[in-house]
Amino acid sequence: TAPAVTPRFRPAIHFTASDTWLNDPNGLVFHDGLYHLFFQNNPYGNVWGNMSWGHATSPDLLHWAEHPVAIAGDEVEDIFSGSVVVDHGNTSGFGTVESPALVAVYTSAFKAASPHSGTQAQSLAYSTDGGMTWLKYDENPVLTRNSAHFRDPKVFRYEGPHGSCWVMVAVEAQHQKVVLYRSEDLKSWDFLSDFGPANADAGEWECPDLFPLAVDGDPDNTKWVLIVNVNPGAVAGGSGGQYFVGEFDGVRFVPDAGSLAAPAGLSSFPDKDAAQAALQQCLWLDWGRDCYASVSFSNVPDNRRIIIGWMNNWDYANQLPTAPWRSSMTLARELRLSSVNGSLQLIQHPVLTEQRVEENPVPGPAPFNLDGTALRLPDAVPGTAQVIEAEIVLGSAELVEFSLLGSTDGSQRTVLGYSTRSGRLTLDRRQSGNTQFHGKFASVEAAPAALEDGILKLLIVVDQCSVEVFAQDGKVVLTDLVFPEANSLNNWLSAEGGTATVRKLAISSIA
Ligand code: FRU
Repeated sequence: TAPAVTPRFRPAIHFTASDTWLNDPNGLVFHDGLYHLFFQNNPYGNVWGNMSWGHATSPDLLHWAEHPVAIAGDEVEDIFSGSVVVDHGNTSGFGTVESPALVAVYTSAFKAASPHSGTQAQSLAYSTDGGMTWLKYDENPVLTRNSAHFRDPKVFRYEGPHGSCWVMVAVEAQHQKVVLYRSEDLKSWDFLSDFGPANADAGEWECPDLFPLAVDGDPDNTKWVLIVNVNPGAVAGGSGGQYFVGEFDGVRFVPDAGSLAAPAGLSSFPDKDAAQAALQQCLWLDWGRDCYASVSFSNVPDNRRIIIGWMNNWDYANQLPTAPWRSSMTLARELRLSSVNGSLQLIQHPVLTEQRVEENPVPGPAPFNLDGTALRLPDAVPGTAQVIEAEIVLGSAELVEFSLLGSTDGSQRTVLGYSTRSGRLTLDRRQSGNTQFHGKFASVEAAPAALEDGILKLLIVVDQCSVEVFAQDGKVVLTDLVFPEANSLNNWLSAEGGTATVRKLAISSIA
């Protein structure tokens, strides 16, 4: 018998494959007015396997159309994660200067039938029809280290004082190293340098990215951001994304002292408590359980830097209770780099459109006071994503709580709380619905979040089976999956221990 399907968990504005498995976003590229999302895909099932690149496109990063598999695994190789560049200048010769090819740089995970059996090496495929069909290069692989764990190439165009070239960042996953190479033509690669281990190094390093960002929007003050995904050993447990801020001179990435909580890696700490404390000091893209393998789009105009992550965690990824598909991507998030209390940090804003329909959430306009009585908010609407924006002055209250996707009897709910005592934002999914499908799923996540002038600012996006929280104007992000029962749609807002003042509360939906 076919497994029961779960259409009510299908997100409205997060990408899912129609009836198959996906993991990492791959080959994110903007081209000809469309955002292309390739992704780790099993075309034949809804658990990990038969790895290939699936393909989807979107005009707005919210609504996606799925296309046929772009690059298929076969009897000699699985197609693992990688990136796509638009080869302006036709350095590879795969296209023309007038009509540049899209070039995919992916990891060949070679199987027993291959002469490269047992190694992971970097290969090329190219498209001359705007990304719809792809040919593998006949001289693959183009870069091997005879390593079993060399993967996840992210390629970008580097413009330096002495000219420009292609730069690849990839990983030696089990050595917690990012490795950098350069090339003139995408086909022949020279080693530049490596980086790591540093900071979170308990698990494999995967899916790196390296890009420049203007500091506080000043184009004359640029810093480089190195994203390093780590599994396991992330701050919320299992998989997660850390980043470093520093300099890149075309050869070497050198992190600023301020982004190094553990210069030789946390595993060099003799003491467990000290390592746990330093883990909290590392820079995290997301403090929740379900944001992994985040990498950025290439070729986006106006130097915008937009990332997408895989909204899942290898701890329980293959067991998520959805069918016929399994797994989705996070929302697209636009990055900025800003100084926060003297150190540079990423600020993330979800890419949402103007199509939002405003609703009047509460009786009477803000500001209004919240005290002992919980305020009922509009219910979540099946099939649409709900966006909740709030600004709350904590005042004498010790705790403010949003209770989301609750059952009518209140026994089931996902709780987003802020405590003035701990200065932490918590997301508690222990009573969120189906948590039994895996022993590691029920959890409470916590992120440090300083109030600003006593104010807590939240942007919460709830989309059937996920809660994404952007706090303090995107300085702190928390993403968790949840699998509530069908009728668990109630939302409440409450304060405890005193009075809080709601300055702003807007609730809208996107279909
Ligand atoms: C990360 C990852 C990558 C690899 C891919 C395989 O989730 O393990 O390192 O390329 O998934 O599907």
